[in-house]
Amino acid sequence: MKVYYSDAIVVGGGLAGLRLAIGLEKRGHKTTLLSLVPVKRSHSCAAAGGMQASLANNYKGQGDNEDVHFEDTVKGSDWGCDQDVARMFTHVAPKAVRELAAWGVPWNRVQSGNRKAIINGKEEIFEESKNSHGLINSRDFGGTKKWRTNFVADATGHAMIYAVANEAIHHEVNIQERKEVISIIHDGKTCSGVVVRDLINGEVAAYVAKATCIATGGYGRIYQNTTNAVICEGTAHAIVLDTGVARLGNMEAVQFHPTGLVPSGVLMTEGCRGDGGVLLDKDGYRFMPDYEPEKKELASRDVVSRRMEEHIRAGKGVKTPIGEHLWLDISILGRAHIEHNLRDVQEACIDFLGIDPANKGKEGWIPVRPMQHYSMGGIRTNYKGETALKGLFSCGEAACWDMHGFNRLGGNSVAETVVAGMIISEYMADYCDESEVNVSSKIIEDAVKEQISKINEVTSKGKSKQNTHDVRAKMKQVMTEKVGIFRNGKDLKEAVDALKELREEHQKVGISSSYKEVNPELVDYMRTEKMLKISLCVAAGALAREESRGAHTREDFPKRDDKNWLVRTLTSWKQGATEPTLTYEKLDIMKMEIPPGFRGYGKKGNTEEHPDTEKRLKEVEQIKEKMKDADRYETQKALMSFDLPKKYQEKNQRIGG
Ligand code: FUM
Repeated sequence: MKVYYSDAIVVGGGLAGLRLAIGLEKRGHKTTLLSLVPVKRSHSCAAAGGMQASLANNYKGQGDNEDVHFEDTVKGSDWGCDQDVARMFTHVAPKAVRELAAWGVPWNRVQSGNRKAIINGKEEIFEESKNSHGLINSRDFGGTKKWRTNFVADATGHAMIYAVANEAIHHEVNIQERKEVISIIHDGKTCSGVVVRDLINGEVAAYVAKATCIATGGYGRIYQNTTNAVICEGTAHAIVLDTGVARLGNMEAVQFHPTGLVPSGVLMTEGCRGDGGVLLDKDGYRFMPDYEPEKKELASRDVVSRRMEEHIRAGKGVKTPIGEHLWLDISILGRAHIEHNLRDVQEACIDFLGIDPANKGKEGWIPVRPMQHYSMGGIRTNYKGETALKGLFSCGEAACWDMHGFNRLGGNSVAETVVAGMIISEYMADYCDESEVNVSSKIIEDAVKEQISKINEVTSKGKSKQNTHDVRAKMKQVMTEKVGIFRNGKDLKEAVDALKELREEHQKVGISSSYKEVNPELVDYMRTEKMLKISLCVAAGALAREESRGAHTREDFPKRDDKNWLVRTLTSWKQGATEPTLTYEKLDIMKMEIPPGFRGYGKKGNTEEHPDTEKRLKEVEQIKEKMKDADRYETQKALMSFDLPKKYQEKNQRIGG
């Protein structure tokens, strides 16, 4: 049995994992990073439109700062987020974007002088100041008060991952690719590493360390239509659940992006609408202003996705043999703009559909429909990234840290990856400074043997009537049809029952090849088993949550219910159980900097008030009054102080202060 030792292990080679590994190496901890795919091919590559950070460099960003970004994030989350975490994030995001510039990310830059933009379907001209010339530029994105999304055309994640991966190599992170983590080594109290299967030669080995962090991204592939890469299957979430100690948070909080390309699911970035693109129905009518007169196509993602589905239900979708869709028109931005700032969108439309979106009129319209895009839920951690299992951390989309609550703002995810990597690497390094690897060889050996015997059992079953791919396909269908944008008790109950049956069916599945080395069927079998568990966590969480909050829309419970549901769902799975156990963690209103209020969409009063909202609102007003002569930093501290590693506490610089 092979056992590899290092100080720290990072599972996942996307932006969060890579940035975390760099932070650990910088603090002197030898770090092994395990990735399913070459890290530069990880799903972070697909982040397109940009990263939010309140630099306030351009005309439309004037007046932006951490406070405005924080308010947008809290409202965006429909008051579901951890406000301490949102504060930590908004403070560090400007530092992250500047660090990335220093590492070579070629951010789009402000040009002084007249700038043309399409806003609300019309051309506007404004002037960028001389002072801002050459500074990092930003575009508009949904649900934000300012233009805050810093970008590299529409390939921001791609540019970022090359820079961050190169930096990780420079810092000598031990990057191990084509490795699949299949279980966590622990004694019920402390995590001591992971069991890993090599995807090339099938070898199963132990990787042991003082601290382990899961940074494997989301679980979008449990749905049929998703913008997520094929590796985003949530298998690491299932492994964490299997520890019986660490838990998952808010698994029912699933984001649907308004503009997935039909039918492939390639992301048509929010930058399309941020730069001025509009949504049209089958009659070529721009419908969003009717539903959301203020923010129109740039309302929060959950809102736009719901409105689009509502419009399709009203008979306004374009019917095709593979389902209905709406149109995205970016031709009004002009060919030059598209070929410069939205060139990946253009290329995908040409390659996948033979449509050039720069062509004027119907010829250039892009068929789009909301598709699963992001997992707000994940491995529950505290603000330091720690799970309930000592030594086990999580960060990035894999985690429920929880800065997004029930709806994430566009551009806040790719920003979170690097920011969380920066912050959590410091806390994890502190943990490594004070810990030793203290695990018996028996625990390591047992963990490896358990996985080897599972593999032996599966590969010796022989071919069966049932097949793992069919089970997986049925699971995706159930999730798509019954746990989608609009949810109701009847469908959700049916989904839970169907998923339980599918789990039973899957236990009967055998595989045709007993080969233990490169065996895609074996890999699919092992992953489908885990995906079924995760699907059940999502469906059960959604069934139990009898309210509508952010992206979780219950048609039978249309109100946001702060009285009963201002809570975070915690999911665990007892050994041998057929379904997850749900418990709840209260969000403390009396500690909130911004107590729950109107989010700005739909009609006012669609909320069941929390009994303490008024009290906290009064308290907040009193604190603000008392601090009226103080600066905004002191006032913020008085309202809700938050922790940060010392190196990131410094104030951010902006032109104009
Ligand atoms: O639309 C986009 O470019 C996606 C960005 C995000 O999910 O943050």
